[in-house]
Amino acid sequence: MYSRAPMTQTNNPTTWHPASWQTREASQQPLYKDSARLEETIAQLGKLPPLVTSWEVEALKSQLAAAQRGEAFLLQGGDCAENFDECSSDNIVQKLKILLQMSLVLVVGLKKPVIRVGRMAGQYVKPRSADEEIRDGKALPSYRGDLVNRLPFTAEDREPDPALMLRGYERAALTLNFVRSLIDGGFADLHHPENWDLDFVGKSPMSAEYHKLVQSVSDSLEFFESVAGDALHTHRVEFYTSHEGLHLPYEQAQTRFLPHRERWYNLTTHFPWIGMRTADLDGAHVEFFRGISNPIGIKIGTGASNEQLQGLIHLLNPCNEPGRLALITRFGAKHVDEHLPRMIQAVRGTGSQVLWICDPMHGNTETTAKGYKTRRFDNIVAELQAAFRIHDEAGSYLGGVHLELTGENVTECIGGARGLKESDLARAYKSQVDPRLNYEQAMEVAMRIAGQLNSPE
Ligand code: PEP
Ligand code: CO
Repeated sequence: MYSRAPMTQTNNPTTWHPASWQTREASQQPLYKDSARLEETIAQLGKLPPLVTSWEVEALKSQLAAAQRGEAFLLQGGDCAENFDECSSDNIVQKLKILLQMSLVLVVGLKKPVIRVGRMAGQYVKPRSADEEIRDGKALPSYRGDLVNRLPFTAEDREPDPALMLRGYERAALTLNFVRSLIDGGFADLHHPENWDLDFVGKSPMSAEYHKLVQSVSDSLEFFESVAGDALHTHRVEFYTSHEGLHLPYEQAQTRFLPHRERWYNLTTHFPWIGMRTADLDGAHVEFFRGISNPIGIKIGTGASNEQLQGLIHLLNPCNEPGRLALITRFGAKHVDEHLPRMIQAVRGTGSQVLWICDPMHGNTETTAKGYKTRRFDNIVAELQAAFRIHDEAGSYLGGVHLELTGENVTECIGGARGLKESDLARAYKSQVDPRLNYEQAMEVAMRIAGQLNSPE
């Protein structure tokens, strides 16, 4: 099937192909009972058109290279996990609105181009701490996300079903189609930021500050256009997608050799990342990722050693290609000072360039006495603040932020301008996985970054 000798990122180009990960230990994979059906589904998926193109992927890579050089900033955000039911017009529009609003705040505050990447159109699979879930003495496969199985605790629902990969591909395509139409139709045009107002924005404590900022952008646009005598083409906003490349059969199925580039691309998304639990040097995920030409991220936690980090850089970006590799650090506010400086030095020792991104969410998760998984706004800001400071002190550049957020008015994280308390969590807690910043909290994070993280007055 893969007869052409592929050129890959690696020093050993002939041994890689989209299924070569299968010779390695693959953690966090569902166990499909019917392997013939799994193979059929992979073949079927492989025949369907790609979700993204290599032109877009390469355009993003060159923007990420600019972020590595300190000339741009990446905003990456979305749900912890998307689910098929929430693939709705409202949901997609709200997520796009919050990301566009945040990016506007960042552009103005940082005075740099902002690269917008959604955790969307494919974020359907989650790593789990155990393969099985036990309730009342009954053990069933853990729910791994809508691409794999279904949430209700019945044997039938929890059985991994290959057909769900096709449903996920379709949902991702529907999401992307709508996002592209909105953007092409002028929804993201800076001349009309009122398009992005969400119903409840008016009531937000952030509202006045945000509208002041929008007004100043409109005034500047008007000024430039009157000087230039022409309209600026501000509707040409670019928006990219990303998801954790966890489910290897799905990722493999849409990975293609493009003869005009002589390289392999994973065309399910622009920017896949390797999760913290699957970044073993000898593991299947690293094997798969080393052969694709997309820009890629790796989640890095406190458990990563300097040697592992250097090994990952060597395997995944041996040619030191600009824009190729992003390290998404997620230590927690308490641990960032202990681990980030040593990692910056370890990376420096390789002579390789990476894009440093801070994920201030996943190291700051806690569970309340009532059993809610939550995160404190103050810890999120504290980790971000520390990451900016540490990079600065080391002469390095923090080029992006990775957030779990939603445009909805949920109550999943504690704190923020409205002072959400633990007792508020029950009111609108919707996530089945990790807690997300709600609209106001997300805007507040953007404003704090734009103001270089000083506390508001
Ligand atoms: C996630 O991004 O939702 C996630 C599971 O992160 P990590 O791999 O960093 O734990
Ligand atoms: Co998460």
